[in-house]
Amino acid sequence: MNYKAILAFSLTSLAATTALAQSDRPAELSALGPVPVPADNPMTPEKVELGKKLFFDPILSGNNAMPCSACHLPEAGWAVQDKISFGYPGTTHWRNSQTVINSAYYGKLFWAGASGSLEHQARSAARGGVAGNGEDDMMEARLAFVPEYREAFKTVFGDDWPSVRHAYMAIAAYQRTLVQTDTPFDNYMNGDDAALSAEAKRGLDLFTGKAGCVTCHSGPLLSDEKYYNLGVPPYDGWEEDPLAQITFRFELFAKGSTEEMYRTTKDDPGLYFRTKQKSDKGKFRTPSLRYTKYTFPYMHNGMLETLRDVVDFYDAGGGENEFAANKTSLIQPLGLSDDEKDDLVAFLESLSGEEMLIETPEIPEMQPLPAAVQN
Ligand code: HEC
Ligand code: HEC
Repeated sequence: MNYKAILAFSLTSLAATTALAQSDRPAELSALGPVPVPADNPMTPEKVELGKKLFFDPILSGNNAMPCSACHLPEAGWAVQDKISFGYPGTTHWRNSQTVINSAYYGKLFWAGASGSLEHQARSAARGGVAGNGEDDMMEARLAFVPEYREAFKTVFGDDWPSVRHAYMAIAAYQRTLVQTDTPFDNYMNGDDAALSAEAKRGLDLFTGKAGCVTCHSGPLLSDEKYYNLGVPPYDGWEEDPLAQITFRFELFAKGSTEEMYRTTKDDPGLYFRTKQKSDKGKFRTPSLRYTKYTFPYMHNGMLETLRDVVDFYDAGGGENEFAANKTSLIQPLGLSDDEKDDLVAFLESLSGEEMLIETPEIPEMQPLPAAVQN
């Protein structure tokens, strides 16, 4: 066969496998495609390399000690495996740390969707009072005192003086490489029948059928990116941990809640902070279910320890929190048997591939600014 014939042949057989593959696969779900890249922040190997260093470098934080990787640890699912994340010294964080794996596919980032792009999100993280708590001018000056960064910002962005905005763009570009598209689930959706165990296949049927999960966990990310209150109970540390209480009150104040709410609320109002609509209290963005094998504990406040606990939670029709009036009617008791719960967990586990571990990069040192650069 000549080159054209081979191409035509492989295209036909590809089309045939795809058609075959899709005919018995659920239409509401799909394999994860290529990562979307915004036109104004194209990927280059040099930019990704710079972003990787910056992700692990504490230079982008107030105290020069709180890199992104502190709360997105590769060996902890690129998250923190505690109910709520620790925070900038003197605070706790107030929500569960999310994995950054596959975050490049979301249209809305954070548990309540407060950020619209990875570029914007990185800025919020580096500057946020309970996360990086950094100040832009200070962080920019620090970057300029690292010869390797001066050179890299010049090459990648044409900067004479590293711009902190460009640092966020580089981090975003790096995060667009932290994706996992070869899970057993993806392989199955792409036509490999043997990629899922019999148990996981039964779990998939429950997921799209009796258990109704696909109502909200749909598409390639297994998220509709809409907001619901499932009745996840409030974080149980608010009462005992003074630092957590202080942080929580700070957030209530900083995000502009009413005085009455500030004094009486003991639970995370979620989406309400952005819309100030009472009907949004307790609502959170449907999260992706990918990579969750490694990102326990679960939910915005980590109140569910294992995937089995999550399945039990849904089986019981969700839970109860302070904002009961807003609990979605889409969550109802399911009457799952023990075997069905096992199947559902097996399916959830098929949404994670191998653990993504990397060699952490070497962090370049700050050096006195040479006279030639001072201005
Ligand atoms: C002190 C801990 C901490 C630090 C430092 C931190 N994060 Fe996070 N990150 C979190 C927590 C907690 C959340 C969830 C916060 C929320 O929803 O309000 C989060 C959420 C995110 C998300 C959203 C994921 C999703 O599913 O929507 C991304 C992306 C992310 N962080 C990237 C970064 C980057 C990049 C940096 C460094 C510039 C960083 N983080 C620094 C704790 C931290
Ligand atoms: C009504 C929409 C809806 C339905 C139906 C639904 N979920 Fe969810 N799911 C959500 C939302 C919203 C969250 C986050 C809630 C929070 O943190 O308060 C969530 C969280 C999760 C999490 C935790 C993910 C993480 O990163 O912490 C898992 C696992 C999960 N759901 C699995 C399922 C399964 C399995 C089913 C079916 C039995 C299901 N969901 C049904 C909306 C839904």
